[in-house]
Amino acid sequence: MADKFDLTIIGTGPGGYVCAIRAAQLGLKVAVVEKRATHGGTCLNIGCIPSKAMLHASEMFEEAGHNFKALGIDIAKPQLNLDRMLAHKDKTVEANTTGIDYLFKKNKISVFSGIGSIGSANQVIVTPENGDAQTIATANIVIASGSDSANLAGIDIDEKRIVSSTGALSLEKVPEHLVVVGAGVIGLELGSVWGRLGAKVSVVEFLDRILPGMDMEVTRQFQRMLKKQGFDFKLETKVTEIEKTGKGLKVKVEPAAGGDGETIECDVTLVAIGRVPYTQGLGLEVVGVETDARGRIKTDGAYQTSVSNIYAIGDVIEGPMLAHKAEDEGVAVAEILAGQAGHVNYGVIPGVVYTNPEIATVGKTEEELKDAGVEYKVGKFPFSANGRAKAMLATEGFVKIVADAKTDRVLGGHIVGRGAGEMIHEIAVLMEFGGSAEDLARTCHAHPTMSEAVREAAMACGDGAIHM
Ligand code: FAD
Ligand code: NAI
Repeated sequence: MADKFDLTIIGTGPGGYVCAIRAAQLGLKVAVVEKRATHGGTCLNIGCIPSKAMLHASEMFEEAGHNFKALGIDIAKPQLNLDRMLAHKDKTVEANTTGIDYLFKKNKISVFSGIGSIGSANQVIVTPENGDAQTIATANIVIASGSDSANLAGIDIDEKRIVSSTGALSLEKVPEHLVVVGAGVIGLELGSVWGRLGAKVSVVEFLDRILPGMDMEVTRQFQRMLKKQGFDFKLETKVTEIEKTGKGLKVKVEPAAGGDGETIECDVTLVAIGRVPYTQGLGLEVVGVETDARGRIKTDGAYQTSVSNIYAIGDVIEGPMLAHKAEDEGVAVAEILAGQAGHVNYGVIPGVVYTNPEIATVGKTEEELKDAGVEYKVGKFPFSANGRAKAMLATEGFVKIVADAKTDRVLGGHIVGRGAGEMIHEIAVLMEFGGSAEDLARTCHAHPTMSEAVREAAMACGDGAIHM
């Protein structure tokens, strides 16, 4: 049996690896167990990082093909070298995952390769792909086993023609027609990648809207922008069958409420209908770690499961399935185990859709405030009235700030526009400090920046924006 550890973490995604580093920094003796050959979990290997590499490269391709001319740059029609673009993605992944190896070494974290399962409340059994199982003795366990793609009943994902996000990040050629099932974050980001590279993109969504949960005004305008980019939307529609033919696919759809169906022919279908918690092989039943009706590990407010020295964080528990949420929970648990008061403010977790333009959101939407009966005011400012946006041909979109009608405290911020994912953070910081729209409006912003639109939206919550 190996040495006794203060903490053993199962899974080295953003939840697990960040928890390990923070705990080691705070003086704990830490072990991690990972079944994948590389660290970083879904995020670094098959999620955030490779998708952003492809989003960036395809955006540059699109820019070069469409916008350079207006800026006075004449070039020949850009040619796609998909192999090189995919190699850029793979190199980006490698650079990030090997970075975690370095951080584990630097922080003297013991790494075990294999499937980690709970042998008892103080033992984790590691079963490697080859060789004998090992038992780790540990005072505490953190489960950070993440999530996996959800699938449609009866559909066989082969990762070549019918793909999850994983296959959609490695297609060998640009599809002629890509059908995306699910108008959520993955569908719209990866649909954008292949759309920019030349595919016709059709999105089939069960609900009557795209990006459920996000501010309606933002998503309505965003849907119009995507239509202009060539996206075809079939809302309130469900997929009933996907038939593989010689070369292509026949996707059978019908209205969500029932009725006459139609068949869409395509060569690739991406199923992006959400993700499910991953708990296979963990041995939760051995010690009685409880899960909820959706298969998520149940935790109290301090990430403790039904077994007092076993904790869980990230996608495998309740809450948004986001890398930064998992990371913050990892830090919080490490701090709790070190006797500090770790916590996460779930009211201020930004969400970003990395399309072009981007959508970024933090705090409450107008719909949520209406439902909760909160009196609020709205300040909005369009990028079409922002000098820097005009100079960059990035005038699409707007900033919207919602603030308490009486106290002026900012309750939410929603941005659709170029670089929204960077701009959202000043609203997040303001909200962390309980700031008001006036606080933001009175903060000097450098000119000319896109961020001035954030300040003007805050001004619009008060006496009015200057440039509108
Ligand atoms: P994971 O990252 O899923 O890591 C869990 C790890 O545990 C895995 O490495 C797995 O192999 C390992 N594991 C599981 N069971 C065992 C076991 N029994 N033994 C040993 N190891 C085990 N989020 C964002 O915030 N921004 C984005 O831009 C973004 N883009 C995304 C794009 C895509 C295509 C996808 C699919 C997801 C994206 N996400 C994004 C979501 C993000 O990847 C997840 O929220 C995040 O990875 C969750 O972190 P985690 O540590 O909880 O789990
Ligand atoms: P999602 O939950 O964002 O969207 C799924 C969509 O599919 C929803 O619009 C839903 O109504 C629809 N849907 C569900 N069942 C359907 C059906 N049978 N037919 C048609 N439509 C159906 O899930 P997605 O896009 O798969 O992403 C999974 C997770 O990964 C998300 O929770 C997200 O937070 C995370 N992620 C985050 C990113 C980011 O932060 N930029 C990028 C990619 C993923």
